[in-house]
Amino acid sequence: MMTNIQPIAASLSKPIVLVGMMGCGKSVVGALLAKALNVPFIDADSWIEEKEKMTISQIFEMHGEVYFRQCEDRAIRTLLASGGKVVAVGGGAFIQESLQKYIKDHAVSVWIYADYETLLERLSRKNHRPLLERGNKEAIIKELMELRYPIYAKADIRVDTTTGAHEVVVERIIQQLKNVRRL
Ligand code: S3P
Repeated sequence: MMTNIQPIAASLSKPIVLVGMMGCGKSVVGALLAKALNVPFIDADSWIEEKEKMTISQIFEMHGEVYFRQCEDRAIRTLLASGGKVVAVGGGAFIQESLQKYIKDHAVSVWIYADYETLLERLSRKNHRPLLERGNKEAIIKELMELRYPIYAKADIRVDTTTGAHEVVVERIIQQLKNVRRL
């Protein structure tokens, strides 16, 4: 049965930011969560693509990763300036130290956790993520997980997506949001 979300939605003064590895389902879960809370949903990468009038792959190709990280930093700081929304950010955003601090200070962060098999399954058929096109996909995913999981673990909330439909994951997030003070 769906939790009563009214108290959460009414007191949502901070944005909710979904972090986690590429392919963990941040965008799908984020859109559903925003719908459940009746607040806007923004995908930070789509926002950057619109601003730059290029896909993420084209930005990497034409301007390089450092430029992309600058766009990402600017975009997320702008998006988090006001509360009452759900924002899904790219897998590298929370890894950038100063941006992580900004997210921690201005939002409630939720780590959308997925295990290696789930990520590989979701990512193996896709080719629009430049970091994964640099070599052996399996090895890159493993390496990034090793490096990034201890950092994602610093998020306020961790939600496991290994089992359960997206709606179930949303329900898990809402349950945990109830325990977060000063939403
Ligand atoms: C990246 C993840 C991508 C995108 C870019 C870099 C990363 O977003 O921001 O390709 O460093 O993990 P998703 O996590 O939405 O795929």
